[in-house]
Amino acid sequence: GSSDINTQVVVLGSGPGGYTAAFRAADLGLQVVLIERYATLGGVCLNVGCIPSKALLHTAKVITEAEETAHHGVSFSAPKIDLDTLRNWKANDVVGKLTGGLAAMAKQRGVTVVTGLGKFTSPNQIAVTGADGKVTTVGFENAIIAAGSQATKFPGAPEDDRIMDSTGALALADIPKRMLVIGGGIIGLEMGTVYDALGTKVSVVEFMDGLITGCDRDLVRPLQKRMEKRFESIMLSTKVAKIEAKKDGIHVSFEGQGVENGSAPKDAQLYDRVLVSIGRKPNGKNIGAESAGVAVDDRGFIAVDKQMRTNVPHIFAIGDIVGQPMLAHKATHEGKVAAEVIAGHKVEFQAMVIPSVAYTDPEVAWAGITETEAKAKGIEIEKASFPWAASGRALSIARTEGSTKLIFDKETHRVIGAGIVGVNAGELLAEAVLAIEMGADAHDLGLTIHAHPTLSETICFAAEMKEGTITDLY
Ligand code: FAD
Ligand code: NAI
Repeated sequence: GSSDINTQVVVLGSGPGGYTAAFRAADLGLQVVLIERYATLGGVCLNVGCIPSKALLHTAKVITEAEETAHHGVSFSAPKIDLDTLRNWKANDVVGKLTGGLAAMAKQRGVTVVTGLGKFTSPNQIAVTGADGKVTTVGFENAIIAAGSQATKFPGAPEDDRIMDSTGALALADIPKRMLVIGGGIIGLEMGTVYDALGTKVSVVEFMDGLITGCDRDLVRPLQKRMEKRFESIMLSTKVAKIEAKKDGIHVSFEGQGVENGSAPKDAQLYDRVLVSIGRKPNGKNIGAESAGVAVDDRGFIAVDKQMRTNVPHIFAIGDIVGQPMLAHKATHEGKVAAEVIAGHKVEFQAMVIPSVAYTDPEVAWAGITETEAKAKGIEIEKASFPWAASGRALSIARTEGSTKLIFDKETHRVIGAGIVGVNAGELLAEAVLAIEMGADAHDLGLTIHAHPTLSETICFAAEMKEGTITDLY
């Protein structure tokens, strides 16, 4: 055609959704072009999301564990933090290895990477503008939109380097003395955990009456308790009334129930830095979708069917841009489905549940139906919770605040939901997710021999509590 490059499949955006779709399509024998505006592949997740945040959370964990071993008679001196080394480790040994690996895998598979900002110019063409202004046009038979999302800005906040989004917080320009986190969701609490361990006095302000609102309260409580001890303050049902950047710092005043009941200060406070983590918005409005006839809603989301098809039959969309939950593992699964559908396979997105994990300390992990949701929808459930205070392993690592909860369908006794709070909850949840997908019931979990002493036993113990077959607690 009249394009610079013509291909069977073009993928717009190289995050976990995009690179997975591109690689799968290439593996299935299709000709693939992958468009990414930034120089490295991997999108938000690898460059400024999941991966760098987990690297810093690991460092945070090492610091807090060292602090806490004093209780067992082993004390370390205060950590000396060399920010340059920490930043370089995160950027080169962690993020750089992964993004470099992706570039090599793209090459190996014959995926053509075009670097620049892509916009649809018609239902069969995308124009890509490079950093140097040069435009490359890509003609395609099928397209997969994987353009992701970006941080929501705080309305009315001044433009100032000290008011950051997650990308700024991960850049770790310095260790502020006092930091305010606006939004008590997953990003705010994960980054709050990092800065707290590094020595910052962290405050969190959340306008709802709880942290991580999608999760059951009994699972959030142990995390909140620990944060209340470590952080300067957690202000719930509280809003930011005014935020001003001055030479001496960021001045913030609060309003709402928190101020009325005394859990938030009446006077304006001074912070060295502010992290805005109030959610993310999809990039649907920035890709020229209208030129391709792809429908984008007011918020920037693109609606798709179970095969990830948009309203235009040969154009697909995956990942954060198609809706909640905005999680990397959802994006990768959707990416495989889109690529396989284009290759002619009869598949659709069929996962029963998508697990969520907050990599805080302790971690909070849940999947499937929550108790709160069951109550709201009038679904009859049975539940069993096993307190980690009765786990030998939890005692031996001095972290007994955890708990493992299973939720069962009242009629079939099958596991339909699970929630875990505690050290390594994110890893432990996987067994429960498999149980849900496989239609396992309490009996199946109770009869499965779990190694002792492990935290994974708490899943077996919770199932045995439901069955009434639990004999000893250790
Ligand atoms: P993205 O990763 O957003 O990638 C989209 C890509 O498209 C970007 O590289 C962008 O530059 C590119 N792009 C967009 N528009 C254009 C255009 N017009 N032209 C060219 N390129 C374009 N999820 C988890 O599951 N676990 C976690 O632990 C986790 N931690 C996170 C921590 C942070 C701080 C953040 C911000 C997010 C985290 N997430 C986590 C969410 C996760 O990063 C996203 O769900 C995931 O990256 C979405 O993948 P995606 O493929 O939809 O898009
Ligand atoms: P979020 O939606 O998880 O949390 C935002 C919080 O901010 C909510 O509790 C909300 O009530 C609150 N809020 C909104 N406006 C506010 C305001 N004006 N003042 C005070 N509070 C306000 O969004 P977050 O934390 O920004 O993360 C975005 C997404 O990134 C997550 O939803 C998740 O999909 C993804 N993510 C996933 C991670 C993981 O899987 N471990 C880690 C980090 C991000």
